[in-house]
Amino acid sequence: MTISSNTSLKPYNTFGIDAKAKYFVSVKTVEELQQVLTLDQYDEKFILGGGSNMLLTKDIDALVIHIDLKGIEVCNTSTSGVTIKVSAGENWHDFVLWCLKHNYGGIENLSLIPGNVGTAPIQNIGAYGVELKDVFESCEALDVTSGTIKTFSKDDCDFGYRNSIFKGDLKGQYIILNVTVRLTTKDHVLKTDYGAIKTELKKLEVTKPTINDISKAVINIRQSKLPDPKVIGNSGSFFKNPVISKEAFELLRVNFPNIPNYIVSENEIKIPAGWLIEHAGFKGKRFENYGVHEKQALVLVNHGGAKGKDIFELSKLIQTTIKRIFNINLEAEVNII
Ligand code: EPU
Repeated sequence: MTISSNTSLKPYNTFGIDAKAKYFVSVKTVEELQQVLTLDQYDEKFILGGGSNMLLTKDIDALVIHIDLKGIEVCNTSTSGVTIKVSAGENWHDFVLWCLKHNYGGIENLSLIPGNVGTAPIQNIGAYGVELKDVFESCEALDVTSGTIKTFSKDDCDFGYRNSIFKGDLKGQYIILNVTVRLTTKDHVLKTDYGAIKTELKKLEVTKPTINDISKAVINIRQSKLPDPKVIGNSGSFFKNPVISKEAFELLRVNFPNIPNYIVSENEIKIPAGWLIEHAGFKGKRFENYGVHEKQALVLVNHGGAKGKDIFELSKLIQTTIKRIFNINLEAEVNII
């Protein structure tokens, strides 16, 4: 375990922002992590997972601890399914592929989501009709103050839309060490309701889809509209899709009769933020070396060499414009550092 100084974080964040860490260390075991947390000479410590859900707007004046815990363990197989414990530092998509290879079903709709397993419960990753919470059993997390390990059940995590207790009441207090999921080994429950999946399966000429087919369809859809962070820096959806009251929606519909919408509850309507941003004229807009993705307006991009501060300013401009035109508050999904 080596502690370096003045280290570029560019390889560690999918936005590809070249911010510096005052000090940097990668931990490969829980013991190393516990040890590093007790190093009193570094007052400030900053936990870095897969770097897929953050925008670095400045250098980090702290010891940045990169969680590089690896391992996949099959805990329990029964006729109804399998329980798998996967370490926080495993790449999420590689884990999905590993499951597909073993014919374990349940997370195929979550193919190609950037980032690591440890981030997945923090924001309850979701896509194409599935969220992590649908397969989640428990996770182990380290209490940063006491250095002890606690197990969180699904209920403890208080999952919501792109949300959990780790983003709320317990923010900054725990480091996810591993996640345990329950997957199917046969009679997989396929989720093809998300419109684009059905269309994609038709294109692939698949009539009786397998979990591999669903994954392929999801990968094709994602690749057709979401930029690959290895090519164009980004953090997926920058904003959450806003949920507004039915009353506010009816008012909005007077001026914007074609506004897409999904019913969340009797009184709540979800509006795709991508539509709002596109109709505010931002889709595909480029400002020097950063901008809004041309195929999905919800994604802000770094075309190369952009400063996090500039992307943050753009996000604020988008928020104020959406507020002015639609009277809707857009909330960032990405953590602003
Ligand atoms: N739309 C536009 N213009 C755009 C983008 C979207 O008009 O530029 C409208 C269209 O009406 C479209 C609708 O928005 O039908 C929905 O778009 P899409 O299917 O691309 O999904 P999304 O709501 O924009 C959400 C998640 C994505 C996830 C997809 C698929 C959030 C914040 N984002 O996007 O998650 O992949 O659904 O399930 O909920 C992420 O969190 O990083 C992410 C990529």
